[in-house]
Amino acid sequence: MSKGLSIRQASLAGIIGLISAAAISVSAQRASTGTTVEPQGAVTRAYNEFKSLTEGKNADYIPALAKVDPNLFGIALVTTDGKVYTAGDVGTEVSIQSISKVFTMAQVIQEQGLESVEKRIGVDATGARFNSIIAVEAVKTVVGTGAPEMNPLVNPGAISATSMVIGATADDIWKKIIGIYSDAAGRPLRVLNDVYESESATNQRNQAIGALMFAYGYIKNNWQQAVDLYTRQCSVGVNAKDLGMMAATLAAGGRNPMTGKRIIDESKVPGVLAVMATAGLYDDSGKWLYHTGLPAKSGVGGGIIAVSPGKFGIAVVSPPLDDAGNSVRAQRAITQISNNLGGNPYAAFREEAVATSGRR
Ligand code: DON
Repeated sequence: MSKGLSIRQASLAGIIGLISAAAISVSAQRASTGTTVEPQGAVTRAYNEFKSLTEGKNADYIPALAKVDPNLFGIALVTTDGKVYTAGDVGTEVSIQSISKVFTMAQVIQEQGLESVEKRIGVDATGARFNSIIAVEAVKTVVGTGAPEMNPLVNPGAISATSMVIGATADDIWKKIIGIYSDAAGRPLRVLNDVYESESATNQRNQAIGALMFAYGYIKNNWQQAVDLYTRQCSVGVNAKDLGMMAATLAAGGRNPMTGKRIIDESKVPGVLAVMATAGLYDDSGKWLYHTGLPAKSGVGGGIIAVSPGKFGIAVVSPPLDDAGNSVRAQRAITQISNNLGGNPYAAFREEAVATSGRR
């Protein structure tokens, strides 16, 4: 009898041990992504599913971008506790393009506060293409009222944001810009000179936008310098892993989860994410948000970053774009991976509701 009891006790102890080991591994995965779905599996599945997708076309209004290999495809998901999950080519660099706008906005907000951007540039979607001049004309009448219907993620607002970075010389300003990008990526980044030269030779439209933003009072001085620095910031080389880390830095409240370096105060990150949510994919931002709930930003180099606050940052690089200027494969892969991992912040209540009602 007593022997039987001790055998039962022993097997009970074994079962309890197994259950608690399983619980620890489940909670470890929860800490990483917020669900029990295995992140590497989700990333690999999306890579395999979308690698043969051929929709879209490289941007060609900047000649250097047309030459980038359209088959390049890399995915990097980085959790807020620093775990990295990748698939495909996460080492080849493309130009960061408009994704840079997020981190220049972050620099201005960090230096001058959330109101600085809201008052000078605005934080509203324009509903227009990223380089729309009509959008500039539409807002010019409200300069000085404190509510321009513009934002730092479209070209006119982005060139204005670059003009707001404080520095005595162009070099001082540039050091700050490349500094915050590098800190977010966790390694020193550099300009891709072929892209910089190519865009500098063909950016007359951005020069016109810069001149208009100066004429209407958004840019206070030296608009030519602002356009040049903006062109340089768009030419910074990044790979999918860099972009994943930059996204994760925002997901982690402004602190790089690998290096521990802070790029922006935690209290300021929600403002950055809000503009990404409303304008990160330009006139397709609403559609994107509807399917993912994620603040995100695209670039015509083919990258997209997306942020699941408190959980993970994810990035995909794939150059072919749709008509709105957003990478086709990146949108598809991020949507699938994030939704599989429970990344949508608007759906977060579901898991809690099921857990607390005991119906799990
Ligand atoms: O100013 C431009 O047109 C480019 N340097 C950046 C545009 C861009 O990336 C738009 N993104 N989807």
